[in-house]
Amino acid sequence: MPRYVCFNLIIVLALFGCGGGGGAAEVGVSEAGAQGVGKAAEVSISKFDDQGGGDLTYRFAGKKPLVVAHRGASGYLPEHTLGGYELAVRMGADYIETDLHQSKDGELVAMHDPTLNRTTNVASLFAPRNGGYRVKDFTLLELKSLTVLPINGAKASREGFTPTSPDPWRVPTVREIMELARRLQRPGSSEIGLYIELKPSGQLIENALIQALTAAGYTARSAVVIQSFSDGTLRRIRSGAATLRTPFVQALLGSAVISSDGLPFVAVATGAAPKLLSFKEVATFAEIIAVVIDPSTHPISKEFIDQAHAAGLQVHGWTFATSNPSQAASQYKHYLDLGMDGLITNFTDLALTAKILHLSQR
Ligand code: G3P
Ligand code: CA
Repeated sequence: MPRYVCFNLIIVLALFGCGGGGGAAEVGVSEAGAQGVGKAAEVSISKFDDQGGGDLTYRFAGKKPLVVAHRGASGYLPEHTLGGYELAVRMGADYIETDLHQSKDGELVAMHDPTLNRTTNVASLFAPRNGGYRVKDFTLLELKSLTVLPINGAKASREGFTPTSPDPWRVPTVREIMELARRLQRPGSSEIGLYIELKPSGQLIENALIQALTAAGYTARSAVVIQSFSDGTLRRIRSGAATLRTPFVQALLGSAVISSDGLPFVAVATGAAPKLLSFKEVATFAEIIAVVIDPSTHPISKEFIDQAHAAGLQVHGWTFATSNPSQAASQYKHYLDLGMDGLITNFTDLALTAKILHLSQR
């Protein structure tokens, strides 16, 4: 077992006890970490619904700082696969992060890129369509014939981990992801959250997501975050322009900006010039700002995070992609010490280690 995994497990045992682990952990930190930290530790926020719906209480999975598994366990296994999501959950992720596109026949499927060729074997099975391999040019049946491949240092499998889904390396639908999260859920433990990004904007895909969530029984009390780089998408969903008025927690993706007169903004890319949104404005349609962690272009300061908190917003950071455990530890510590509320990471186990250490030192 790697040294950092042992360290993680020892801290979990010391802090939270390990009685609820339930059998031998397949993946080292897995169940002791996930269940110990999450159990009886959920956080919620209340917010007045200014559209007449009364007081809303949103629930988050797990205990802050939240660990969000970016594209699953994408540092280890093929991104956006049931196998990768499962490894992340077993390592202790509070949320599964997923990016969604629509297939030619309207199914919501998990894929980061608008095209298939970077992460799948599509080019070995199909000729290009309309000059390329866009997700929206393939039916669900065709997408299901593809295999998602490991990239960026990930591997096709992981020693000691056997995915329990029958087809763990196929392109998953959002329904399959919901089913996986519910199947992996253990009674009495924190809900396994979904942190869902709509990649394209537009009412068609927004409606499809809201319908899928509501059909599956998710409500404002569920640990669901809808994230987007488009404030238009989040505003439409929040205002009820999507099929139903559904107050799921929302996260605006963007960059941290402090103006020359010291005011904080979230910059969202809109064509040529980025649009700057004040925290007060963002708080009308979102509960979280999820900002890029790039100290050279968009440094995140304690003041930025404090002001976001004052406006009622959580601050999450993306993407924690450092694989080296000691370098990752200092990076997580830096942002956690600033007050960051959520870590969107390719390496759930390293983020969980940092979270546990952080909580133990408060
Ligand atoms: O959740 C934030 C993060 O997912 C945004 O980046 O490009 O990986 O979707 P990306
Ligand atoms: Ca994403």
